[in-house]
Amino acid sequence: MAFTAPNRARAREIVERYPFKRSAVLPLLHLAQDQDGWVTPEAMEEVGELVGISAAQVLGVCSFYTMFKREQVGGLVVSVCTNVTCLVRGGPELYEALRARYASDDDVFVEEVECLAACDTAPVMQVNYDYHSRMTPETAEAVIEEYKSGKRTRRGISGGRITIAGSDR
Ligand code: FES
Repeated sequence: MAFTAPNRARAREIVERYPFKRSAVLPLLHLAQDQDGWVTPEAMEEVGELVGISAAQVLGVCSFYTMFKREQVGGLVVSVCTNVTCLVRGGPELYEALRARYASDDDVFVEEVECLAACDTAPVMQVNYDYHSRMTPETAEAVIEEYKSGKRTRRGISGGRITIAGSDR
């Protein structure tokens, strides 16, 4: 089962808002991620059933947007840009170094993302969607360790929501 009973009722309400059921895919994916912290395969199946498309089509939508997580993530989501400007300024090397460094750390989820729109300060990474510019593997690790130790305030990630000081962003 994917949605809880209250969320299934909510999902049906969401679908009713749209003249074309499939237009409800994005809000339903947000609902699924809010519930479980990520979009489970069961949730993709159920979203597909609710809007009349296949789970593979739902996966196609889900995998297009990096804000939707298709696996469980830790408390720190580290997003490393490897798009063109970051690519030529060490983004891929930064991504590989951080992936290797935190491979066995359940608190840190390292992901590769497309352009973060801060190309003039490449290579760029985000930690829980806060920007960090001109990173090297060493400076990036130092920043992440500051979040881990509490020297930097981490935004909380609850389901699909980012919160800080108790307020949703
Ligand atoms: S290419 Fe990395 S921020 Fe634009």
